Amino acid sequence: MEIQCTDKELFLFKKIANAAGELNLPCYLIGGFVRDKLLGRNTKDADIVCVGDGIALAHKVADRFQPRPHVAFYKNFGTASIKIDAFEVEFVGARKESYRYHSRNPEVQPGTLEDDQLRRDFTINALAVSLNKEDYGRLLDPFNGLQDMANKIIRTPLDPAQTFSDDPLRMLRAIRFAAQLGFSIEETTLSGIRNNVERIRIISQERITDEFNKILMSRKPSVGFDLLYQTGLMHIIFPQMVDLAGAEYIDGRGHKDNFYHTLQVIDNICPNTQNLWLRWAALLHDIGKPATKKFEQGHGWTFHGHEVVGGRMVPRIFSKFKLSQGEPLRYVKKLVELHLRPISLTKENITDSAIRRLLFDAGEDIEDLMTLCEADITSKNRMKVKRYLENFELVRKRLQEVEEKDRIRNWQPPITGEMIMQVFNLPPCKLVGEIKNAIKDAILDGDIENNYEAAYQLMVKKAAEFNLQPAE
Ligand code: CTP
Repeated sequence: MEIQCTDKELFLFKKIANAAGELNLPCYLIGGFVRDKLLGRNTKDADIVCVGDGIALAHKVADRFQPRPHVAFYKNFGTASIKIDAFEVEFVGARKESYRYHSRNPEVQPGTLEDDQLRRDFTINALAVSLNKEDYGRLLDPFNGLQDMANKIIRTPLDPAQTFSDDPLRMLRAIRFAAQLGFSIEETTLSGIRNNVERIRIISQERITDEFNKILMSRKPSVGFDLLYQTGLMHIIFPQMVDLAGAEYIDGRGHKDNFYHTLQVIDNICPNTQNLWLRWAALLHDIGKPATKKFEQGHGWTFHGHEVVGGRMVPRIFSKFKLSQGEPLRYVKKLVELHLRPISLTKENITDSAIRRLLFDAGEDIEDLMTLCEADITSKNRMKVKRYLENFELVRKRLQEVEEKDRIRNWQPPITGEMIMQVFNLPPCKLVGEIKNAIKDAILDGDIENNYEAAYQLMVKKAAEFNLQPAE
């Protein structure tokens, strides 16, 4: 394994080395930058640890650039950072840390490089590269991080009980790295997680969500989510997902395990989208199943209305995870609610009006909905999968034909709620919605023409049923 730096990075590290030399401070590149370079991954920031005052070093480095970059520093933590052409460098003095039980904020004392490496989360994150004159470029690897990297293993440098209890966020980081890098978690490290899951409760939701989203955006999220489930972390951070797990049997008839089905749907969708919210929709598409599960004699297991119940659960889950309450919430809720609709259109003799209705309800998100539905096919029977995919291809074709003809995707009915209120002198009320929907339905069903006059006539007729006349 080799560290391949760009010319710009090399130039920057030389400046840091010279500044550290002047201050007589041993200094090292450490952490994610070294790990990612060795793995050939992209890097956008670097951590520098020096044996001494990290803030003083940051200032000395900044002096060497024209114009001088701003040094952001936190005296209490002894850290500083500077940004050079969008590349961020963090400086910190080597430290020993000791943690109080109820907080992840450590008490910090100065230490040696070895002390500093020992307090880090994983052996692959404890690798350091010397920036000192006498051994510039030498890799310092006291815990065989390089070997763990070659064997694709995540392991804590200390007893895992200590590392995870010190900072329980690291349990999620271990699982996130496993999902991102395709590594496995070494057995004692894994039992360390199992034994400390309760400690995750001291971590803020924002940090948990950040790691959770990183798992969701990894190449194979099922690896991470299965580990969250197996270790017991999922039970604490997302119990509704755990409710999906397992299969019940009555009269010898079982249903599929909806947890593992969901994981497969997420893996299926990954090659087709980098949209975090579409991945969230895949994660939540069946979340309403446990609440709607029934065994019907002579029929088997049913989950009637799970898409509606699931849609209703989305806002609460978003608020628990502190995710955006705006557009992403609307989008995910909508996809969960609509996720069965394209399947119902794979039957024969589907009318144009059914197609128009889906185009209207899905609007701009129709493509994403189709991507979700295709990922939802998880049968082990290859012939079945092939047949379903072909059917979806036909639905896509029909959607395209009807859209070209009727332009429904961005369509809005020619009569709005405001117009109805104005014509009949009504305040906002249920009746306005009913008249508006009747017009929309009549146009989508092809009962009246899609124009203002036809819509106006229907509005007057419908209002008359409620004894309403247009106001003067
Ligand atoms: N670190 C740690 N415990 C944490 C977070 C970070 O020991 N809870 C250490 C690790 O050595 C890590 C380094 O601090 O490599 C830098 O942390 P950070 O920038 O948060 O993460 P990276 O490892 O760089 O990875 P990523 O950017 O993907 O989060």
